[in-house]
Amino acid sequence: MSATVITNIATLVTNDPSLRDPDPLGLVRDAAVVIEGDRVVWTGESSKAPATDNRVDAGGRAVLPGFVDSHSHLVFAGDRTEEFNARMSGRPYSAGGIRTTVAATRAASDAELEATLTRYLAEALRQGTTTFETKSGYGLTVEDEARALRLAARHTDEVTYLGAHVVAPEYADDPAGYVALVTGEMLNACAPHARWIDVFCEQGAFDGDQARAVLTAGKAKGLHPRIHANQLSYGPGVQLAVELDAASADHCTHLTDADVDALANSATVATLLPGAEFSTRAVWPDARRLLDAGATVALSTDCNPGSSFTSSMPFCIALAVRDMGMTPDEAVRAATAGGAAALRRTDVGRLVPGAYADLVLLDAPSHVHLAYRPGVPLVTGVWRRGVREV
Ligand code: NIG
Ligand code: FE
Repeated sequence: MSATVITNIATLVTNDPSLRDPDPLGLVRDAAVVIEGDRVVWTGESSKAPATDNRVDAGGRAVLPGFVDSHSHLVFAGDRTEEFNARMSGRPYSAGGIRTTVAATRAASDAELEATLTRYLAEALRQGTTTFETKSGYGLTVEDEARALRLAARHTDEVTYLGAHVVAPEYADDPAGYVALVTGEMLNACAPHARWIDVFCEQGAFDGDQARAVLTAGKAKGLHPRIHANQLSYGPGVQLAVELDAASADHCTHLTDADVDALANSATVATLLPGAEFSTRAVWPDARRLLDAGATVALSTDCNPGSSFTSSMPFCIALAVRDMGMTPDEAVRAATAGGAAALRRTDVGRLVPGAYADLVLLDAPSHVHLAYRPGVPLVTGVWRRGVREV
């Protein structure tokens, strides 16, 4: 198998645990990376790189692991520009807007949903995302939820069943009946197509008992839990996530000290979604408080047409640095290794021998420029599974 060396890298972010002390990003200066097939086989100083058949000159720029976007909602149809406009004139965000997208998604053909999904995945790839998770949650019938998962599974292994996004309109007067459907017939139809189960634990969506019922039923079917928790208000979601060993508690905007302690003393990652706070003009999650307590933090886009219509991990990094108390190093780490931890993976989000060759080349000398030069399209090269895609 022929190998390729990417050399003349001014700053290489490896996230290599063995290089992490005192630098959490495992930085290597004047570096090179060797790729063979779909894997990284060597990283280190350029001068020590082994000879290979092919050579790519990074031109004194920065290379980092491809972004791991561990939270998105990309199987949808329609658009909620009006709702966004109304919010920017002062109307608050509420979970009820989800039903607008449910109606549009149910009415769309498979081909339309697939075209939308493909479009936003291409957009994300151009901005450096090489691994992504995506969810159902805009179908809310047995057939529509299973269809969403089938379509998603054509594009990623990280597929999440979110039948419990909100109570389906047909069950408005019978939420218990909807939970029974989500944990029964719908789960049976969806489990074969998903790796994860999720629930929106929030006022106006599902309470703690309902969320527990959903995640427990999913676990019994072999799905692993993750949860939308503490987004719009304080609530039981984070504690439930830790209790059930969820891979990730997502949003984490309203946290008590006990919630922060619970996350810090668990394997549950706190996934922060600054695009949602940006697009709903909500208070920012306090990343500093979580990091100082010792919690693992991930950053993701939450890309969806309602609360966060961005596919851009660089944008989320810039917001997290400006408004959530993260350093650029912490934000880049959260968008790469943090996302991988939220998906319980070690084969992505780091550039070490044996990991997938998922790399981003920036038109900048350092990863810090992702926050230092917000809004500038710095991603100039993307390799996914060893193949150059951008
Ligand atoms: O993560 N919070 C729940 N779900 C999405 C919002 C979906 C929507 O508004 O359509 C979120 O923000
Ligand atoms: Fe979400």
